[in-house]
Amino acid sequence: MTSTLASAPAKIILFGEHFVVYNQPIILASINKRMKIECKIEEEMNKTLTIETNHFGKKTYPLSIIEKNNHYPANDFFYPIIYILRKILPHYAEPYGITIKIHSEIPYGVGLGSSAALSVAGVAAILGLNNSVKKKNEILDIAIETERIIHKNSSGADCIVSTYGGLLYYQRNTKIRSLNLSKEISFIIINTGLKHSTGQLVSRVKRFSENNLCEFYNLSNNISGICERAIKALEEGNFLNIGKLMNENQFILERIGVSTTEINNTINDSLQYGAIGSKLTGAGGGGCVLALIHHQDKEYFLDNMRKKGYECFPVSIENQGLKVNIKSSNF
Ligand code: PMV
Repeated sequence: MTSTLASAPAKIILFGEHFVVYNQPIILASINKRMKIECKIEEEMNKTLTIETNHFGKKTYPLSIIEKNNHYPANDFFYPIIYILRKILPHYAEPYGITIKIHSEIPYGVGLGSSAALSVAGVAAILGLNNSVKKKNEILDIAIETERIIHKNSSGADCIVSTYGGLLYYQRNTKIRSLNLSKEISFIIINTGLKHSTGQLVSRVKRFSENNLCEFYNLSNNISGICERAIKALEEGNFLNIGKLMNENQFILERIGVSTTEINNTINDSLQYGAIGSKLTGAGGGGCVLALIHHQDKEYFLDNMRKKGYECFPVSIENQGLKVNIKSSNF
């Protein structure tokens, strides 16, 4: 019997969300919160598929759900897993059962890349069930395809950083570059708790771009410039410049209509309590705010923000992306 364990990290976007969809650069990093997926072929001949999660409870299906012609609602949280099973094990005829356990440390639907991490770890773990060892780029291709069933215009950036890990500069269809930080950097995430639909926000930006062609062109150039200056600031460990660039990026995100009053208030409070720079991270419309803090100000910041009722937590950049462990043995 085979059991596989795969885990993939969440992400933060430092610069360039939304504009990456229009081929502008993005700078993003994997963080120390993971999606862990364990898949197991059960010895009992129960022909069921059980999916268990710490966020959405447990569901059991007949194993025949894996067959493509059996209906499954595409807006269900578990659909990506069903999609991956259908893609990787389409002719699964063994008379056994499959158990999939999902343990997520990543808050769901708030811009931290939970669906990308689910797709990346899900593909790797399910490929393992098939005893198929694939290279990271092959896993990534299927993960991006899976993420596109959730949000069809996905730039693929979230899956890329979740697969390879670290701090990355990426431009769609051209390059992925790993960036080195000269100093350790402290980021705090503030979760507004308001869930968003990335697909809807990407469509909103599309409408903005169509109605404001010239302005969108200029804003895109500004984002590209911000990313170029950010590479230098990050590599030099110039926190002041990184913070300024984050604030500039936020201004542009407000302009294209993906910030909200809650996000703007959260940013104002975070700047008041010592953030060097602060912006939304991810698609916006709710979700999370990212604040850059000097190490020495971290506790003061957290105390005061929490006193004001914010849910916030420090995160660090995680260098490792996807991790996979396949065991072929008898349970
Ligand atoms: O909020 P998230 O984690 O879904 O991030 C979306 C990032 C976007 O740039 C808005 C979309 C994309 O496909 O890159």
